[in-house]
Amino acid sequence: MRKKIVAGNWKMNKTLQEGVALATELKDILAVEKPNCEVIIGTPFIHLATISEMLKDSVVAVSAQNCANKASGAYTGEVSAAMVKSTGAEYVILGHSERREYYNETPEILKEKVDLALENGLKVIFCIGESLAQREANEQEAVCKAELMGSVFHLSPEQWKNIVIAYEPIWAIGTGKTATADQAEEIHAFIRQCVAEVYGAEAADNTSILYGGSCKASNAPELFAKPDIDGGLIGGASLKAPDFKGIIDAWK
Ligand code: PGA
Repeated sequence: MRKKIVAGNWKMNKTLQEGVALATELKDILAVEKPNCEVIIGTPFIHLATISEMLKDSVVAVSAQNCANKASGAYTGEVSAAMVKSTGAEYVILGHSERREYYNETPEILKEKVDLALENGLKVIFCIGESLAQREANEQEAVCKAELMGSVFHLSPEQWKNIVIAYEPIWAIGTGKTATADQAEEIHAFIRQCVAEVYGAEAADNTSILYGGSCKASNAPELFAKPDIDGGLIGGASLKAPDFKGIIDAWK
């Protein structure tokens, strides 16, 4: 059975002190009321070591939001997958549309990052999704399939077990516009079918596919009720513990 997951993506928010306070609040809330799903928080690099240590014995796993496409060496300012792993983090988010758009991360670069993340024992939350123009041109399926083919479908079946997919329509990220549950389910089912074509039905069935884009406590229950939506990747609503907890509770 595939995992149900609620993952937070803090993006470039929270100082170290603010991040520690948020992680502490979340840890305390979830210690009292155990979640019915896996809970992950994707923090900035500088929080990883401190928060991973803090959450070591809790139900909350920690994720980075990026890693370098090089193993090590003279790449000023970069953070390698091995470094991320050494903090105690378990996951890394790769392929987010903001990284693709603002930092020119191409499918080839993302493929290198995915390979290095897996080689270093990290699990990958790999993001895909179409722009508004692509949705209006009904290209969402082609775009998602191409993004999968470009960066993750070269992986071995064994490696694939460490991949979580996040479908995030760009037009829904931070805009307050959520895909309807039916719209999201339609493309999630398509993505699962693409996975089945490459890795087989059983692997596809075991793959968690998250929805992201203005997901909040009010719309999470309807989205998560769909058969192919296995949870969410949450931006804005992961920045306050009660909001994030509200989404986690959608699995109750
Ligand atoms: P949002 O962001 O929940 O703020 O729309 C989601 C994401 O970009 O992962």
